[in-house]
Amino acid sequence: MARYEIHGGKQLNGTVTISGAKNAAVAILPATLLVSGKCRIENVPDISDVRILLDILEGMGAKVEQPEPNVVEIDCSGVTCSEPEGELVRRMRASYYLMGALLGRFGKARVALPGGCNFASRPIDQHIKGFEALGAVVDETEEYVALEPCEEGLHGSRVSLDLASVGATVNIMLAASLIPGQTIIETAAKEPHIVDLANFLNTMGARITGAGTDTIKIKGVNSLRGGTYAIIPDQIEAGTYMAAVTAAGGNVLVQNVIPKHMECITSKLQEMGARIINYDDAIRVIRTGPLRKSTVKTRPYPGFPTDMQAQVCVCMALASGVSRLTESVYETRFFGYCTELETMGANIKISGKTATVTGVEKLRGAEVFAHDLRAGAALVIAGLAAEGVTYVEHIHFIERGYENIVGKLTALGADIRRTED
Ligand code: EPU
Repeated sequence: MARYEIHGGKQLNGTVTISGAKNAAVAILPATLLVSGKCRIENVPDISDVRILLDILEGMGAKVEQPEPNVVEIDCSGVTCSEPEGELVRRMRASYYLMGALLGRFGKARVALPGGCNFASRPIDQHIKGFEALGAVVDETEEYVALEPCEEGLHGSRVSLDLASVGATVNIMLAASLIPGQTIIETAAKEPHIVDLANFLNTMGARITGAGTDTIKIKGVNSLRGGTYAIIPDQIEAGTYMAAVTAAGGNVLVQNVIPKHMECITSKLQEMGARIINYDDAIRVIRTGPLRKSTVKTRPYPGFPTDMQAQVCVCMALASGVSRLTESVYETRFFGYCTELETMGANIKISGKTATVTGVEKLRGAEVFAHDLRAGAALVIAGLAAEGVTYVEHIHFIERGYENIVGKLTALGADIRRTED
């Protein structure tokens, strides 16, 4: 099994370039199913979730080419299949976006239920509510979701989500882009990748307005045409490197970022003692002095992202005083990494949705296990900041979402290597 070996205690210095956003890529790649013609997509992160999705699309008959690193050209014109291969679909959570894309393209779909990071039960009732509002008859079993049009056919509709679900918002946008009539999503998610998906679809000829607000309007069009689109930088990858510098110390220019997307993360890391300078498309993070305690509550965008909960917890573990970290999106997310951090010497008490983190002077290296993507990233950060050697196991979770993490950290002066047994 592959693992990371990290000799901690070295400050991070230099420049790191952030890759394209995973959560935008995993929505935009299935969206190419809706397009007649070739899509050239740039700034595509080279991560395993993207590779699986490309394999799924190819398996369905799409032509996929990678003319240069981080560029993918996809032509789904030849796809005739509305049932992607189940084994691959089950390997990643975001494969559920194939449901919305196939419903829009073929008016029907049958998609195996997805796998991915299992840090919570992660229901899809809001996706189903959206499909039903659009006129789909849904057959949901433990194994798959099958969608068929109702007798009157698919039609635009008003969908008021019970909560601002990212996944449900994406799935409804995908399906509604090619479904006749106007669809209105109320209580829509506002995350940057929702706006990126809308921009991609609009570039290809869709008529979507309001993305980034809680009401999104989609006027169904007859077809979408090919074109070129560049994915936005990854907010969470950028935040992870910012947290790494904050925890381990140093001076790093994090480039290819949208500073506006980083505001909530920036302000918390500043509160904890990092000095942060914003440029047009880069952020410098400097941390030389001691870390201070903080209070963080995760919330949907523009709040502090749940996907940064674990990384900021490592900073809290090393800060003077008692910090409080409250999770309001996925209650069980603490269990993926807090025990592992305690093995490294952290002092964390979890009560319901809140972790109380009493800062310690040092973390010490240990063998720790990644239980999901962001939990794994947090353990890498802990290993960089710790004294001694840390072995991070189950790194396939980390490689789902971080492009070349070992190479990027090595370039910043970290002593990290990927080893295989
Ligand atoms: N929820 C429901 N019913 C639904 C959908 C969601 O109850 O039908 C609940 C969830 O259980 C959760 C909350 O609503 O408590 C928010 O879930 P959401 O649907 O917004 O999340 P998601 O689409 O499953 C995406 C990201 C996650 C990120 C969350 C929250 C993708 C592919 N995944 O998941 O990213 O944590 O939004 O921002 O975009 C990650 O990148 O590590 C990751 C897990």
